[in-house]
Amino acid sequence: MERTLSIIKPDGVARGLIGEVIRRLEKNDLKIIAMKMLRMTKKQAEGFYAVHKNRPFFQGLTDFMSSGRIVVMILEGEDAIARYRKLMGSTNYKEAEQGTIRKDFATDIEKNVVHGSDSPESARFEMGYFFNSFETAD
Ligand code: RTP
Ligand code: MG
Repeated sequence: MERTLSIIKPDGVARGLIGEVIRRLEKNDLKIIAMKMLRMTKKQAEGFYAVHKNRPFFQGLTDFMSSGRIVVMILEGEDAIARYRKLMGSTNYKEAEQGTIRKDFATDIEKNVVHGSDSPESARFEMGYFFNSFETAD
């Protein structure tokens, strides 16, 4: 069993896609073991995406991610990190496979509805960023 962090980004929440994303997670055996809704400050978004701090899209990304409420979840399942990223589809929705969340709903390379951790190390950092040990205990 593996755990990963999922975020429904501000565009997904604003467009009423929370239910649709959760339906797809549950249908694909990704069990939600922790969940909350919140709005990040710009500083919190910068901390979350610190790995991208030298990228040209960092300012835009952290402005966007702090622009509205998000839904943050920890998902658990076999091979959860890779399976959830497959469900999300490519960062650029134009290149995403048919049937993926981003192919079906993203409107822009930045406004791509969902986030998913990309490795066990980033999953550990990202889960700890939003949830304490009481919230993630079995
Ligand atoms: P995420 O971290 O959100 O799950 O997305 P990802 O792994 O597929 O993509 P990543 O390379 O980690 O980029 C993080 C987010 O930054 C925005 N982005 N904008 N304007 C651009 O060229 C650009 N490239 C990336 C996207 O919102 C992407 O999801
Ligand atoms: Mg990423």
